[in-house]
Amino acid sequence: MVRLDWATALLAFTAVARAVTPHAPSLVPGAYIVEYEEDQDTSAFVNNLGGKASLRKDLRFKLFKGASIQFKDTKNADKMAMKVAQMPKIKAVYPVRRYSVPHHVVHSKGNAAAEVLAKRQSEGNDTFSTHVMTQVNKFRDAGITGKGVKVAVIDTGVDYLHPALGGCFGPDCLVAFGTDLVGDDFNGSNTPVPDDDPLDCQGHGTHVSGIIAAQIDNPFGILGAATDVTLGSYRVFGCNGDTPNDVLIAAYNMAYEDGSDIITASIGGPSGWSEDPWAAVVTRIVENGVPCVVSAGNDGAAGIFYASTAANGKKVTAIASIDNSVTPTLLTNATYALNGTQKSFGWTAGEPGSWDNVNLPLWAVGFDTTDPANGCEPLPDSTPDLSGHIVLIRRGSCTFVEKASFAVAKGAKYVMFYNNVDGTVSVAADVEGLAGVGMVSAKQGEEWVHALEAGAEVVLHLKDPRKAGQFLTTAPNTATGGFMSDYTSWGPTWEIEVKPQFGTPGGLILSTYPRALGSYAVLSGTSMACPLAAAIYALLINVRGTKDPKTLENILSSTAHPNLFRLGGESLPLLAPVPQQGGGLIQAWDAAHVTTLLSVSSLSFNDTDHFDGVQKFTISNTGDKAVTYSLSNVGAATAYTFDDGRSNTPAPFPSELTADFASLSFFPNKFTIPAGKRKIITVTATPPKGLDAGRLPVYSGYIAINGSDSSALSLPYLGVVGSMHQAVVLESDGAHVSLASDDNNAIVPGNTTFVLPPPGLAGDISYANRTELPKLVVDLVMGSALLRADVVPLSNSTAAASRVADTIFGSQTLGQPYGLPAQYNPRGVFEYRWDGRLDDGSYAPAGRYRFAVRALRIFGNAKLPTEYDSAETVDFTIKYLPAPSAKFRRLDGVY
Ligand SMILES: *[C@@H]1O[C@H](CO)[C@@H](O)[C@H](O)[C@H]1NC(C)=O
Ligand SMILES: *[C@@H]1O[C@H](CO)[C@@H](O)[C@H](O)[C@H]1NC(C)=O
Ligand SMILES: *[C@@H]1O[C@H](CO)[C@@H](O)[C@H](O)[C@H]1NC(C)=O
Ligand SMILES: *[C@@H]1O[C@H](CO)[C@@H](O)[C@H](O)[C@H]1NC(C)=O
Ligand SMILES: *[C@@H]1O[C@H](CO)[C@@H](O)[C@H](O)[C@H]1NC(C)=O
Ligand SMILES: *[C@@H]1O[C@H](CO)[C@@H](O)[C@H](O)[C@H]1NC(C)=O
Ligand SMILES: *[C@@H]1O[C@H](CO)[C@@H](O)[C@H](O)[C@H]1NC(C)=O
Ligand SMILES: *[C@@H]1O[C@H](CO)[C@@H](O)[C@H](O)[C@H]1NC(C)=O
Ligand SMILES: *[C@@H]1O[C@H](CO)[C@@H](O)[C@H](O)[C@H]1NC(C)=O
Repeated sequence: MVRLDWATALLAFTAVARAVTPHAPSLVPGAYIVEYEEDQDTSAFVNNLGGKASLRKDLRFKLFKGASIQFKDTKNADKMAMKVAQMPKIKAVYPVRRYSVPHHVVHSKGNAAAEVLAKRQSEGNDTFSTHVMTQVNKFRDAGITGKGVKVAVIDTGVDYLHPALGGCFGPDCLVAFGTDLVGDDFNGSNTPVPDDDPLDCQGHGTHVSGIIAAQIDNPFGILGAATDVTLGSYRVFGCNGDTPNDVLIAAYNMAYEDGSDIITASIGGPSGWSEDPWAAVVTRIVENGVPCVVSAGNDGAAGIFYASTAANGKKVTAIASIDNSVTPTLLTNATYALNGTQKSFGWTAGEPGSWDNVNLPLWAVGFDTTDPANGCEPLPDSTPDLSGHIVLIRRGSCTFVEKASFAVAKGAKYVMFYNNVDGTVSVAADVEGLAGVGMVSAKQGEEWVHALEAGAEVVLHLKDPRKAGQFLTTAPNTATGGFMSDYTSWGPTWEIEVKPQFGTPGGLILSTYPRALGSYAVLSGTSMACPLAAAIYALLINVRGTKDPKTLENILSSTAHPNLFRLGGESLPLLAPVPQQGGGLIQAWDAAHVTTLLSVSSLSFNDTDHFDGVQKFTISNTGDKAVTYSLSNVGAATAYTFDDGRSNTPAPFPSELTADFASLSFFPNKFTIPAGKRKIITVTATPPKGLDAGRLPVYSGYIAINGSDSSALSLPYLGVVGSMHQAVVLESDGAHVSLASDDNNAIVPGNTTFVLPPPGLAGDISYANRTELPKLVVDLVMGSALLRADVVPLSNSTAAASRVADTIFGSQTLGQPYGLPAQYNPRGVFEYRWDGRLDDGSYAPAGRYRFAVRALRIFGNAKLPTEYDSAETVDFTIKYLPAPSAKFRRLDGVY
């Protein structure tokens, strides 16, 4: 085994990687998606529930028939809840989960001035960097722009009044179809108020839409990849908050039924299970002929095995992010005086941003322009009063808030950061007393520090950043351009499906933004990669005349370019693992014109228990000449899941990578396929030898298919050495009880007594100050398709003893807390606040209990107790406050 001693060198860089405590998407209490066996009347179905549940959403579509319902907060309704699954003509019942707008970085934004700037002068050839990286420029130069293709975007809506996004909504507009499923005030937990108008108030969807189709009418040379597509906008987020999967399922089905040719969504949450209901719905749409691309997720820091739903669905195309080859920055104009000489500079305002008419000298926290932790300690006593200065601090190590707080402690009202990498970011620092925060480039900051060190006076003159002039800078991104973005989420799924499929530029992307938020912005995220892939599908549909999802995914994967693994500006002499980059960077023009077609987009050899080492795929020569092909194997870095043999938790990014490769043999391995014919190839894989199977190494690589017509295709593959089934999913100390109100999930001591609101009144805020619910916290070290918790009675009160419902896998239990078991869980922290309610709708009597938690192993048989890992919490006691009398209740809200 070859070990590379790169980790130490790169560790300095990874100081920025945060400690990761992944969280599962939260459940909406009492809300379920019900899928019918066959079409039935939803109001009749809901009526059948005897008034015990209300309708959230009628979900009757061509490809999905069902409804989402909200159970009312009473005992008997809860009993019904679990029974619905057993009702005739019900196929499945799934809990409603909520997903957030993916965390993306806002680097810089335009302002009101940007909108009125002159239009771009000449059209010329497409030189937009992300287009050149993916060969999209060749389509535009050849006049292919996605005409006639309907692309549906499921997101925060779109500012269609933006001059670069058509200026209108409806037939004959760029944004021609779609709707708002939720309304401005929707936050993920209140009632959606749909309307016809998908106008965006967040920004995310407007940025995404511009990547697909921004028109040339803009000052910064921004260009959509397929400017003549017809856009559809399905708005699933309000102005704040997240969105539940019943809304997402509805949006996908509406987009499908409206005749979309491609559906794109830059939304997701950690999962890793293709059976997840939202993922399963997207799979169904793909099976019905509409390609669906979904962003792979921005949880790269969590390490390997962190696939996100719905990207992790079977046949769903998961899009990874690659960093742009340039760093575009939208800077606000300002001037400064150095020893009295006026000069201009550019900067990026942050929040707070009260910078209007600020004319103050700079004061630097130290003159070391390489200090990794500049301003991370309280400033010394010798520091002057900083109220008359703008404090200059280098970015790095600690948070912006910490740095700003130390400056504010010395009287500062204004802080200007200078960057430690290319470009700038829009800083948010909510610090009492701080009036303005901003950022300048590393180069500008260093220049100032050197001048201050030499004794010069530097006075900044700043105007209101919402009104000042702006300009765009683009510097070559030599550190990360063309390589995988550090934040891009890693696959594969728990069942070893290959994820992601391939990547496009998503890091440092300039696109449109709502007019109210500055009109243009530079953002980073897989959210920005996914829409470029969607636009590329539109271009391929133009050229190849098919929208068949499998055909298009196969050609994009085989023509994509894998790249080396890179971190902190240093490359390893190894290809990045397939679980990070899939097939690599899309080469759209090659895909549009490739004549050698493969029958698959990737191969999974599964794990050792289910090793699927002999597989077949077909190569078709659709060209007009015979081609002789030769097949070879190109290994990528093997990625260890665990740091060492004792660890059960996947290592955070970057985990150990090694140069261990599988060996592959091909039959035949050199052959000629006549024009119009095909050949079946048998691949026999032998996983790399000598690896520590207990650490679950994931090996991967590419089958290189080189043709005598100078074609060079690559087919990604991966496999796992070791047993996914033997991997611990829950450690024996992995379940504990903490206070429901404690966001840090600190473990409570044994025998803590919790005083609960009277049964059924946990949502009543008048009890909030007098009660505290226990919170069950389960730390899943790997994903589990089934997580159950039993409420084990410990006091021999007659009440509890007479209530023991069952003995499950050897524990006496009153049942499970209401809403459990939880299906298809990602790894990470699972939290559940218990108000005493059980899965049969009744409430556990006051008494002493513990939770006995069981998590099903990967590939485990749910019927067998031996297939679960178990953990018990400490003992705790619950009591209830007395229920209010009827008279008392009438007074509620009055006193
Ligand atoms: C523009 O692209 C076309 C097609 O690739 C090429 O023939 C032409 O030379 C390019 N023009 C310029 C000015 O680069
Ligand atoms: C959503 O809004 C409702 C009502 O406007 C409010 O009660 C609820 O707390 C909000 N939820 C979240 C998660 O912000
Ligand atoms: C600015 O003035 C200071 C003090 O007079 C002097 O030391 C420094 O060299 C000057 N710097 C520049 C860049 O002119
Ligand atoms: C902003 O600064 C740029 C670069 O220095 C300059 O070209 C431009 O004219 C300035 N615009 C305004 C409105 O001041
Ligand atoms: C791996 O094998 C298991 C068990 O047969 C199967 O359920 C799973 O789908 C396989 N994974 C892939 C990617 O084929
Ligand atoms: C196949 O083609 C690629 C790309 O041109 C090249 O790097 C590689 O060496 C070729 N492999 C073989 C076995 O010829
Ligand atoms: C909790 O109470 C039980 C029974 O009274 C006792 O045996 C146990 O030691 C207590 N645990 C703690 C952590 O105090
Ligand atoms: C709970 O206590 C806090 C702090 O004492 C108080 O501000 C709040 O109004 C109380 N809420 C209720 C519902 O009594
Ligand atoms: C509770 O009662 C059962 C049988 O009635 C007995 O087996 C068990 O030991 C008792 N447990 C405690 C904690 O007293």
